[in-house]
Amino acid sequence: MRLSGKVALVTGGSRGIGFATAKILSENGATVVITAKDQERLKKSALEIPNAVGITADIRKRNDVKSVVNKTIEKFSRLDILVNNAGIFPKIKLLHEIDEDEWNEVLDVNLTGQFRFTKEAIPHLKKTGGSIINISSDAGLKAYQGFNADAYSASKAALILLTKCWALEYAKYKIRVNCICPGVVDTDMTKPFMKTQKDREFMDSEHPIGRIGQPEEVAKAVMCIELILKQIIL
Ligand SMILES: NC(=O)c1ccc[n+]([C@@H]2O[C@H](COP(=O)([O-])OP(=O)(O)OC[C@H]3O[C@@H](n4cnc5c(N)ncnc54)[C@H](OP(=O)(O)O)[C@@H]3O)[C@@H](O)[C@H]2O)c1
Repeated sequence: MRLSGKVALVTGGSRGIGFATAKILSENGATVVITAKDQERLKKSALEIPNAVGITADIRKRNDVKSVVNKTIEKFSRLDILVNNAGIFPKIKLLHEIDEDEWNEVLDVNLTGQFRFTKEAIPHLKKTGGSIINISSDAGLKAYQGFNADAYSASKAALILLTKCWALEYAKYKIRVNCICPGVVDTDMTKPFMKTQKDREFMDSEHPIGRIGQPEEVAKAVMCIELILKQIIL
């Protein structure tokens, strides 16, 4: 119960990496708010996590985001951890084939969405000396042959630099800002790319440990940040 008394907000907490993260934070004593767009799935997921509530919100809508943070504070009076996890993956296309709406949609969710939540959370994290964990991607670190998801790569690369900017801007308030850059993880997002045994074997072989990651492994990295890094820094 190492996070007992702490309140965490996990965006995109209804499935995949966000769900696994919310679960591990809750198992370690935190009260967890999960948020996602699909109300039914969110409701079901919140029931599977002890000490969790689901608040439906579309990360593209400023008022939805404000409302999630306000309701969190109304209900639990504090916010300690924000996990900026919600994200989408576009259709694979070369840059000149992407239309501007597709480009904007990815940036709106994966980048401006993280800005919206962080902006609303900062005043509360300042009070608790809290923590922000951004879920970026290895696609934000380097270009991959045949990846062809430029808006995604751009959003994830921007989130890595924003992590560094926010860490500098808010260090004086003892807010820690960190980023995780997973390789391929076994979730709904990557299922369409692993329909055949051959696809799966290719994906596995692309990773040094010989397999893709599991959502629980990324969730454990979040826990490492919360438990180990916190002890080093504060
Ligand atoms: N899977 C991978 O291989 C991988 C690798 C590196 C990084 N990542 C990153 O890890 C994060 C989680 O990925 P995942 O694989 O767990 O994805 P996922 O299984 O597809 O889940 C995505 C989550 O984001 C939410 N979301 C999407 N659009 C939203 C919107 N407009 N408003 C509110 N919530 C929204 C979804 O909720 P709804 O269903 O309600 O829309 C869902 O809860 C993403 O940022 C992704 O880019 C994933």
